[in-house]
Amino acid sequence: MERLTSPPRLMIVSDLDHTMVDHHDPENLSLLRFNSLWENAYRHDSLLVFSTGRSPTLYKELRKEKPLLTPDITIMSVGTEITYGNSMVPDHGWVETLNNKWDLGIVREEAGKFSEELKLQSETEQRPHKISFYVDKSKAQEVTKELSQRLEKRGLDVKIIYSGGMDLDILPQGAGKGQALAYLLKKLKTEGKLPVNTLACGDSGNDAELFSIPDVYGVMVSNAQEELLKWHAENAKDNPKVIHAKERCAGGIIQAIGHFKLGPNLSPRDVSDFLECKTENANPGHEIVKFFLFYERWRRGEVENCEAYTASLKASCHPGGVFVHPSGTEKSLRDTIDELSKYHGDKQGKKFRVWADQVLATDTTPGTWIVKLDKWEQSDDERRCCTTTVKFTSKEGEGLVWEHVQQTWSEQSEVKDNSSWII
Ligand code: GLC
Ligand code: MG
Repeated sequence: MERLTSPPRLMIVSDLDHTMVDHHDPENLSLLRFNSLWENAYRHDSLLVFSTGRSPTLYKELRKEKPLLTPDITIMSVGTEITYGNSMVPDHGWVETLNNKWDLGIVREEAGKFSEELKLQSETEQRPHKISFYVDKSKAQEVTKELSQRLEKRGLDVKIIYSGGMDLDILPQGAGKGQALAYLLKKLKTEGKLPVNTLACGDSGNDAELFSIPDVYGVMVSNAQEELLKWHAENAKDNPKVIHAKERCAGGIIQAIGHFKLGPNLSPRDVSDFLECKTENANPGHEIVKFFLFYERWRRGEVENCEAYTASLKASCHPGGVFVHPSGTEKSLRDTIDELSKYHGDKQGKKFRVWADQVLATDTTPGTWIVKLDKWEQSDDERRCCTTTVKFTSKEGEGLVWEHVQQTWSEQSEVKDNSSWII
């Protein structure tokens, strides 16, 4: 958050499973569309917040399976754990507020009396301020009612949330995704960084609270669960700030950005002749996203193998420009583009995707931009990541010139294989 010197233009607070992530789309297309939109138009001045029911363990597993961006803030375990930045620094202040009228032992003891109806979820999902079970749809309401009465009698103040037609979470009353968001907004406000707009995105019961936080826009994705739609019909039907999208998952988030006019909503992935699309002002983030998208399409054989493309790329590289490959080999940038020609369509019909994460540009010297990003490449079931630094120069009225590109294997990369890693 420190990187922002003024209030974020947009803060997206999104659930992951079945909202940001479409588990029915093995190609992850809507997620990849969202990713390039975010890195292209929002990363530099906005905040991305993931708010998931998953524990840190299962959240990290999902990050390995899906091409998720790195959020600025991660809220896990249904709003009971908040962490900041890449290194996920925990918010200890938040945890303290959750101890009020909460006692794990008592909750376990009382819930244990419903052994017929409640089946404990895996150990990883049991957290200091969250106890989770599976429950049959037909039993959910009745168990919720009886259990809350019992816990109240024992002096606790809890919240019981039913999600996804099968999960039952017990949390302190002050916890939950909505309360965590309210806490975050308050914290940002005291730091003078209250977002200009906030958009909450969700699909299931534990997301309902997100849609009742004042001044927050909300989108229930098209595939939202019955329990969320029911909550909406009973509680927020007349709130024009909350919509039920027509599109699934991340597609619905993009749709909501457009609907509420929160900023650009055209994903670079939805533009086919993007090499032609020039922005008015030199925008290094845009240049990066555009290039790596071209690179993906080139290797997938989705763009024509035509000289004009490589010629235009070479023209945007400085004649003396150098590329330092993660293996340590140095090559001229123009030779690297020539080499790319040989790889046209080599990933055709294969699972091959490229995405940029955390694209951040600084312009300490006028006319020069240093852009840092994580460049990810997925090829079949193997994922590689390079920390990439690009130096651009820009001249008045002309586009950006690629001066220097340097890549090193990122710690996040499970595989550090130099073969067929072109740029
Ligand atoms: C996630 C969590 C699970 C929780 C559910 C609903 O799936 O892993 O523990 O019950 O979200 O909040
Ligand atoms: Mg969900």
